[in-house]
Amino acid sequence: MRLRVDLLPHGNYPDVVLVIDVLRATTTAVAYLERGADALLLTSSPEVALNLRSDNAESGLLLGGERGGLPIPGFDFGNSPVEAAAQNFTGKTVVMNTTNGTGAAHTAAQTGKHILLAALTNAHAAARRARAIATEEIALVCAGTDERVSLEDVYAAGVLAEYLLAMGEFTIDDGARIALTMRRNAGNPIEALGSAGHGARLASLGLGEDVRYAAQLSTSTLVPTLADSSDVAGALR
Ligand code: MLT
Repeated sequence: MRLRVDLLPHGNYPDVVLVIDVLRATTTAVAYLERGADALLLTSSPEVALNLRSDNAESGLLLGGERGGLPIPGFDFGNSPVEAAAQNFTGKTVVMNTTNGTGAAHTAAQTGKHILLAALTNAHAAARRARAIATEEIALVCAGTDERVSLEDVYAAGVLAEYLLAMGEFTIDDGARIALTMRRNAGNPIEALGSAGHGARLASLGLGEDVRYAAQLSTSTLVPTLADSSDVAGALR
């Protein structure tokens, strides 16, 4: 079994893909499910999300997302996992569109067989699920920020890689070696996320609590799994 880490979305995945956007899309996706959401829809643009809600007015779709870390005008929520964790989403479908994370999921879904959303908060469960369904390769795909590598995503890939290496034999690539080195040298999750550029930016926006929330390790057993790929990729529990 191969284990690879793409420091940014690469675009060609033969088997299982774990999409990682610790600050904050995949952390928030897990939080929505933890708070009872039945499903997540990840759209390719804010307009697709807004049209979905207007075309399905009776369905009670809720929209969550951000640009530049701030809520998208017309959306019900931003992209804060702390905000999501404070709501009750029982029976709801949440439509997400973010600057980096939902796009990375769409890229993965173009070729990957199984697309899972991973963060630090569901890392062990995500690793277990990936190990259970993979037949040839597990790709850990870091979403990055504005098409640049994000430290926190590489760190989380190192955490996932450590879990996976403890679960079985893998041939690893240099991306995985980089991620493992990051995990072993960047301290504990809060130290690592605190040193990340996007973590500092979120703190400057008054969203530092999101960084602390995202640093929680394996507190959730829920692993969002994409059902299909198009303008709208559905993620289920
Ligand atoms: C993203 O998906 O681009 C990130 O989560 C950005 C953010 O929420 O700050």
